[in-house]
Amino acid sequence: MERKKFLKTIGAGAAFAVTFPCLHSCSSDAEEDLEVFPVPTGVDFTVNLTDTEAAPLATNGGFILKNFVVIARNLEGELVAASQVCSHQQTEEVRFISDDGGIFRCSTHGSRFSQTGTPLNTITSNPLKVFNTELNGDILRIFE
Ligand code: FES
Repeated sequence: MERKKFLKTIGAGAAFAVTFPCLHSCSSDAEEDLEVFPVPTGVDFTVNLTDTEAAPLATNGGFILKNFVVIARNLEGELVAASQVCSHQQTEEVRFISDDGGIFRCSTHGSRFSQTGTPLNTITSNPLKVFNTELNGDILRIFE
């Protein structure tokens, strides 16, 4: 049976019920459902490395999330920080991973960034915002 004849046979209400789910979820613009966040600005806070929340930073490759910032101890043991909010479409899925000598990666679409924020693939050409770090004793300052 042709589609037009089939839709006529089942009636307008049923035709709507059959087609509506696809209108909603088969949209080519699936990105509209992403929850977006502002890239952090005015960043200036500290983390006490002896606190439990900072425990992952005792290990090279470990990271924590605070104030929408990813704070990581890179594979060389240096403390680095970058926006947890991706420069592609502003989801808050950026994390530090040990691939390729240690990089930032967003799991939403797979953007990868160097530790200085340079995009490493073609998902986005927008650099990831990175922050300064300064260690005074056990107190780590993260700032712009
Ligand atoms: S929002 Fe991060 S890769 Fe698209």
